[in-house]
Amino acid sequence: MAKRSLLVGNWKMHGDGGDLPVIAAIGDAARQHPAVDVALCLPATLIDRARGVCPGLAIGGQDCHAEPSGAHTGDISAPMLREAGASLVLLGHSERREDHHEGDALIAAKVRTARAAGLEIVLCVGETAEDHAAGRSAAVVREQLTRSLAGTDGQGISIAYEPVWAIGGDSTPEPAEVAVMAGLIHDTVSGTRVLYGGSVTAENAAAMFAQGGVDGFLVGRQSLDADTFTAILALMD
Ligand code: PGA
Repeated sequence: MAKRSLLVGNWKMHGDGGDLPVIAAIGDAARQHPAVDVALCLPATLIDRARGVCPGLAIGGQDCHAEPSGAHTGDISAPMLREAGASLVLLGHSERREDHHEGDALIAAKVRTARAAGLEIVLCVGETAEDHAAGRSAAVVREQLTRSLAGTDGQGISIAYEPVWAIGGDSTPEPAEVAVMAGLIHDTVSGTRVLYGGSVTAENAAAMFAQGGVDGFLVGRQSLDADTFTAILALMD
């Protein structure tokens, strides 16, 4: 069976109740493109309210703790995300790896806990600018995958290839390079969906989709606006 395309928005630390109309508009657009799976990973404070304005759209969290509960002030657990209405969670985003010094072993523990809580996962991997310049992208990504997926069967997990150097800026790898990395990920994790993330726009997404290899996109800034996000969705249908 052919894999369905997947488009995921990552709102990072943006958004409040005033943005519910944007979420509702994205939900409307998702209903008009039923062949594409669409999800929004929102701040945890918005998950419950988002479920109310767009029942058809998958809502996700952006991280969870490695333990299902406990004395961890300020953290959010996978069962809490699930109970609030999330059906997926982003794990291993490079901003978590950098800002919070998350390593692959911790991310693997989070993956196991999130799966046990019934959440789908979008696991982020990607090389730094330094690794890219040194030609180590494939080795780095293969190692992140092997370590971050230790102890899981890969079920319910999509992989987002997000070169760290491409996030939050305006440069992206060439579509052919993305296709090579997507092929490597498909070879390492059989049956998974591979997303590209890092400065995705409708223009570069169209070129990558035409090149082939990726099953969708993980979108940051361009997911904050319903029109720009919907433009990416439309080209995937
Ligand atoms: P960006 O973010 O699209 O704003 O580069 C992508 C991401 O970090 O997931």
